[in-house]
Amino acid sequence: MHKGRESERVSEEFVSFFQLQKQANEEYYSRKGINLYEDFGTTVSKSSKVSVAQALEFYARLAKLEREGRLPSEINVHEYGIGNGAFAAFFLETMKKLDEKNSTRYYEKIMYVLGDISKKLLEDVRKRKEVNAHAKVIEFIELDATNPPFNKKNVLYMRSSEVWDDLPTILLVKKKNEVLEALTLMKNEQEVEMKIQMQKTDAWKQHGFEKEITEMMKAMPEEYAIPVSVGAAQSLEKCSQIMDFERGAVLDVIDYGFTNAEEITGEPEEMWNEFVVRVYGTQLTVDVNFLFLEKVAENLRLQAKTLQTTEYLENVLSEKIFPVTLGTGKKAYVGYLTGKEMAERKSELKKSGYSKEFIKGKIREDDGYRAMRIMKRKSK
Ligand SMILES: C[S@@+](CC[C@H](N)C(=O)[O-])C[C@H]1O[C@@H](n2cnc3c(N)ncnc32)[C@H](O)[C@@H]1O
Repeated sequence: MHKGRESERVSEEFVSFFQLQKQANEEYYSRKGINLYEDFGTTVSKSSKVSVAQALEFYARLAKLEREGRLPSEINVHEYGIGNGAFAAFFLETMKKLDEKNSTRYYEKIMYVLGDISKKLLEDVRKRKEVNAHAKVIEFIELDATNPPFNKKNVLYMRSSEVWDDLPTILLVKKKNEVLEALTLMKNEQEVEMKIQMQKTDAWKQHGFEKEITEMMKAMPEEYAIPVSVGAAQSLEKCSQIMDFERGAVLDVIDYGFTNAEEITGEPEEMWNEFVVRVYGTQLTVDVNFLFLEKVAENLRLQAKTLQTTEYLENVLSEKIFPVTLGTGKKAYVGYLTGKEMAERKSELKKSGYSKEFIKGKIREDDGYRAMRIMKRKSK
């Protein structure tokens, strides 16, 4: 049972989670706009760490291209699923500062596409002063991340946070080595109730990726409802067609999810199946299946690597990083702190229930967030 707000979206019968999630989320995001943060927080909407790390790396890649005489005259960066725009603003601010510090001129060459399915959200974000400060290098476009409306192969950097988990997903269950689909029902009451029913059907094959799904399911435990991120796979396939991989383009995705079966079987099957679908407001989310998406990337002849987001940050920033949630509700800060920042925010951490050992940096929890990077496969 998951608590949620009354919704107009009711299915009278059990349907594929793909259908339910697509309908519910499109309705949710077009209605909520920037107020989506009333229902949940994300790791990039207040914390600048991921954006700063990505900007540092991107800047270094641009400098390398320049040295090689391969820097394009327009530097295209795309971000789909833009939230409050902070992910873009922190990134662009860092790029600008790096330019100033090193007397380079990359920032002014950037064309940063902010694409989102919600027109209302795009309008809300355009008005924010942090975003507006970069208006000259930003283009706002209404689009669906599973089918972006571009055809030139000129994107040098594609980045997103917590969007793949929102894209339509199917739920599959392995039973006696057979793959069944878990169908879902959402009731319209004070509470949103989700029930999962298994069904022997081949309907899930209509979404494609049968080879990757079959291979991935072999590694999955029996009886667990496994989210298969087919919407994210569609997005990855389409986005890879507009990326300038030959020039070293990179696609970075931040999201929560799993990369192997052990991360699933760490929870008893009943508990996993009860909480596999989560409801925030009336938005429906599931973990991203990075294992499946790595196989999709491989079959697109690309290289994919998934790290814990904290590992990624530590590699780039060369210091220990701690995931934290400070406070509760709308005002909560979800993000990452260095050891020094932990010491500075000691009393807030204490108030939020963190132990002395944690505040001293002696223990760290996995916050479930992963950083996946896709790029051209290195030739052997
Ligand atoms: C969970 S929010 C994450 C926002 C922001 N990236 C962050 O991490 O704070 C999901 C975002 O994706 C957008 N979105 C959802 N489905 C989409 C789709 N199919 N195509 C493009 N954007 C989508 C929503 O409008 C929203 O901005």
